[in-house]
Amino acid sequence: MTTKKKGYETSIWKGILRSPEKILDSTKGFNQLGEKIPPKSIISISNVKKIYKLGDVKVNALDGVSFDIFEGEIVFVLGPSGSGKTTLLNLIGGIDSISEGEIIVCDDTLRALSAKQLTKYRKKRLAFVFQFYSLIPTLTVVENVELTMELMKFPQKTIRKEAKKFIEMVGLTDRQNNFPSQLSGGERQRVAIARALAKDPDILLVDEPTGQLDQDSGVKIVDLIRTIAKAQNKTVLLVTHDIEIHKFADRVIKLRSGKIISDQYLEGGVPVESNL
Ligand SMILES: Nc1ncnc2c1ncn2[C@@H]1O[C@H](COP(=O)(O)OP(=O)(O)O)[C@@H](O)[C@H]1O
Ligand SMILES: [Mg+2]
Repeated sequence: MTTKKKGYETSIWKGILRSPEKILDSTKGFNQLGEKIPPKSIISISNVKKIYKLGDVKVNALDGVSFDIFEGEIVFVLGPSGSGKTTLLNLIGGIDSISEGEIIVCDDTLRALSAKQLTKYRKKRLAFVFQFYSLIPTLTVVENVELTMELMKFPQKTIRKEAKKFIEMVGLTDRQNNFPSQLSGGERQRVAIARALAKDPDILLVDEPTGQLDQDSGVKIVDLIRTIAKAQNKTVLLVTHDIEIHKFADRVIKLRSGKIISDQYLEGGVPVESNL
């Protein structure tokens, strides 16, 4: 992987991030030569507000949220239902518009992008994993993954082979010709993860991935997301109300009523209290 392709590094980053080994090490703050690497912000959120107007009623879904996510981080936003988690993902995804403040992703200021540029931004930078999987029911596992790669206009010749690689990565090789209805919830979520990765995004945006799953399957899914994201140096922003899975994050941001109430790195075993 070259950072040139990504096209968003500033001049001070050129060279520092050239080697993939150094990129992988960058989340730890040092490269292989033991040099300190300043973190590179990939998502920058400044004083973001989202106000929904329902007749005379105003809902402050996000009420002045600011944080940066750094390249390669796995960040979980924990919050109860209605705290603004999905709104946050929708704003970062350019699906909904910001009322106030600024979001910059990979050097793109989202508010400045036209509808066409937003589509391009989503296609190039992001992949989504949702609570309800959003698979195409009439396509098999392998066809669901292939469809995404076709939409990305990846070389037709290699699509089948590449799709199979992603399916293998999520442990579903023996189910690749099944339809989604023939799979368990956990297996469907694995397909959704394979499909998301097949886009080769910079950032995975994940909304309540365990919402439909029992605890054991949920933990396995989040473990898988973490393992693959670390191996492929993907940045993950995962939102959830499921406190049980927080240990798979590098960092946990707690959201309540549209405001951040805490932001902690888990390295060193910082405890996360069970009360949201
Ligand atoms: N399209 C919308 N129109 C009006 N209110 C909305 C809309 N989407 C979300 N909200 C409100 O914004 C708040 C945050 O919602 P949401 O981001 O979905 O929370 P979460 O994902 O944490 O459950 C809630 O009070 C919700 O009712
Ligand atoms: Mg939600």
